[in-house]
Amino acid sequence: MSSSNASAMPPETGPAEGSVDLERRAAIVSSAVVGCVGLAAGAVPYVASWGPSEREKAAGSAVDVDISGIAPGKMLIAEWRGKPIWILRRTPEMIEELRSDADRLADPLSKRTAYPMPTYALKDPATRSIKPELLVVVGICTHLGCSPSGPFPAGENAQLGADAGFVCPCHGSTFDLAGRVFKNKPAADNLAVPPHRYLTDSTIRIGEDTQA
Ligand code: FES
Repeated sequence: MSSSNASAMPPETGPAEGSVDLERRAAIVSSAVVGCVGLAAGAVPYVASWGPSEREKAAGSAVDVDISGIAPGKMLIAEWRGKPIWILRRTPEMIEELRSDADRLADPLSKRTAYPMPTYALKDPATRSIKPELLVVVGICTHLGCSPSGPFPAGENAQLGADAGFVCPCHGSTFDLAGRVFKNKPAADNLAVPPHRYLTDSTIRIGEDTQA
């Protein structure tokens, strides 16, 4: 199990100079991490990761998360460096929708660099993930750091209209099920993707990857 320096932000997720400060925003939403985030069809479970001690976690060590219990269409929230990490198991229908909503998105190809993306999150712009069925993103709005709600199925949230996705309650930014922000919203950037890798089919390590 690797550990990282609490005072240093890894280049994979640290905002570019002059951009927004995710660490600061994380403090704003830290209370939301400990509790639950609303889900259209019920509460999203907050799942404790295992591996490092509380002190190691506070210092930013990587954390391992068991994803075996996430049913299709459901999401759990883990915690890494005090940030909520959303892990959503997308259904085939959800993935299909992601491949057809580009014209409604502000940055469908994740070209903006305020939140540097791991290269494996850029290979498939529609899913922004290593495995198409599993979304892994930092659940902090890229506008001013609120914690969005969701996921909402298509047609079940007025702010999303016919789209499925997440809604930020602070100023109304909306994101699709790949964490990409819709056009003409206060947030300009897609949700950040944390460094991560799969240890097994049922375990993700957050905070560490094999990217050079
Ligand atoms: S903080 Fe999310 S829209 Fe402003």
